[in-house]
Amino acid sequence: LARGAVAPDLAGRHVVISAGGTREPLDPVRYLGNRSSGKQGYALARTAVARGARVTLVEANTGLPDPAGADVLHAGTALQLREAVLKAAADADVVVMAAAVADFRPAAYASGKIKKKDGQEPAPVALVRNPDILAEVAGERARPGQIVVGFAAETDDVLANGREKLRRKGCDLLVVNEVGERKTFGSEENEAVVLAADGAETAVPYGPKEALADTVWDLVAARFGQIA
Ligand code: CTP
Ligand code: CA
Repeated sequence: LARGAVAPDLAGRHVVISAGGTREPLDPVRYLGNRSSGKQGYALARTAVARGARVTLVEANTGLPDPAGADVLHAGTALQLREAVLKAAADADVVVMAAAVADFRPAAYASGKIKKKDGQEPAPVALVRNPDILAEVAGERARPGQIVVGFAAETDDVLANGREKLRRKGCDLLVVNEVGERKTFGSEENEAVVLAADGAETAVPYGPKEALADTVWDLVAARFGQIA
């Protein structure tokens, strides 16, 4: 269903959205990555622009064209994404972490290409934890009343894991989707449940990523209404 003309209910609001997936380099030609396409984050950016927001999109490795009307920043790694998001969040009314941030990065970066040697097994790759950007943004709240939204893709016990994650991260809303065959990665469509810190649950049926994005903005706008 097309929404038609939309109410500019995000006018005057600065929204920061991260999208895509970080890549953590091992050497100049290799990285640890993930399958996030960035399409959900871009749908959030387009719909936020349509609803009147000033949009900062921090993208990682999507290869997607910049959405019209958004300020786009580019990040490669989790540490770069963190820096860009924290800076943009300083004057944001909403921060939405739709990016898939690598939990770990290689402990060491080889400045030259890693070569194999005859008759030798490869050395194991040591990893270290990346900072949790969502937990950091939600814990610090650069502005009073700032709304923080996270995403989670789960394969098992989707709602129970989602509730636990919402609490652990300290965010206001968590969009939880089940990872499955045709769902989520690279697809144009998505199905999700949006969990709120106040216990509310909003089911979003299988459909375009724009529809899920608009539901997120509906829930955000309702929260602005309560605190304005
Ligand atoms: N996230 C983040 N920084 C990280 C990892 C995740 O900001 N280092 C954010 C993601 O952008 C997403 C949310 O946290 O909005 C949930 O990501 P997810 O990978 O589901 O959560 P984790 O805490 O990493 O849990 P898991 O062990 O299930 O991967
Ligand atoms: Ca993770």
